[in-house]
Amino acid sequence: MRIVPNQGNGKITVPDLMQRKSLAAANSTIKKITCLTAYDYPTARLMDEAGVDIVLVGDSVAMVALGHESTLPLTLEEALHHTKAVRRGVKRALLVADMPYGSYHGEINEAVHNAMRFVKEAGVEAVKVEGGERRLELIARLTEAEIPVMGHVGLTPQSVNALGGYRVQGKTPGTAEQLLRDSRSVEAAGAFSIVLEAMPRELAFEITKAVHIPTIGIGAGPDCDGQVLVLHDMLGLTFQDAPKFARRYANVGEIISNAVREYCADVQNGSFPTDAESYHAPSNVKSRKTISIER
Ligand code: KIV
Repeated sequence: MRIVPNQGNGKITVPDLMQRKSLAAANSTIKKITCLTAYDYPTARLMDEAGVDIVLVGDSVAMVALGHESTLPLTLEEALHHTKAVRRGVKRALLVADMPYGSYHGEINEAVHNAMRFVKEAGVEAVKVEGGERRLELIARLTEAEIPVMGHVGLTPQSVNALGGYRVQGKTPGTAEQLLRDSRSVEAAGAFSIVLEAMPRELAFEITKAVHIPTIGIGAGPDCDGQVLVLHDMLGLTFQDAPKFARRYANVGEIISNAVREYCADVQNGSFPTDAESYHAPSNVKSRKTISIER
């Protein structure tokens, strides 16, 4: 084993990301943290090579890639399956996996065992769990077990039934105070970063100032230490209206539909495949057509 303070090969690590927050306080040129979700090898590889800092195998896979109505049905085995594919595509970015609903809500020992499966079987460098104060013990136990944890407060989609829908959180003084307490607890328990989802930008700003770990915002305004988006939202690959924070960087859905229509038309009008797109028999082998004519 080589002992080096920094791997020097551009690999993003948990300590690098934490250090970025402390350096940013004194140096305005420190870059914000970028994070995107990925669920398969090609997209993971493309985003890793394009330079994103964190690749998150979000449980949003349940909705955007598996067609479920919420994230709740995702199983541990499905999450592991997608995470293993993403692992093969990610070399440089930090790889984080969401623990699916039900995999950390019962016995703590079972939750630690499930998180270890993400590390041992899928090669993640951190796991993400939703919830604030009520996850204190879990986050502390995972951290003790050498598993870096990303927290997630605000709109936590796994609480959709308890919250009564997907709504912006922390809009009253009382709920804002609770989210601040949640964020502080997540930090105190040992998390290395925290996702702030769907809350007023003023509250996200306050939380970002109050904690020493990087905040990664989604629908939480521009003052967080970094941003995350669901890949399918930013690429225009979803079938509902995207939330207002989900800037669309491309319309890949339209590109795919047009390509498929063009292919179908080409097959049907005989312009695909051409002779150049066909294999040819060696010149010393007679074609079946010739043989049958000779017969
Ligand atoms: O599952 C997911 O994609 C997430 C991000 C929105 C942070 O949790």
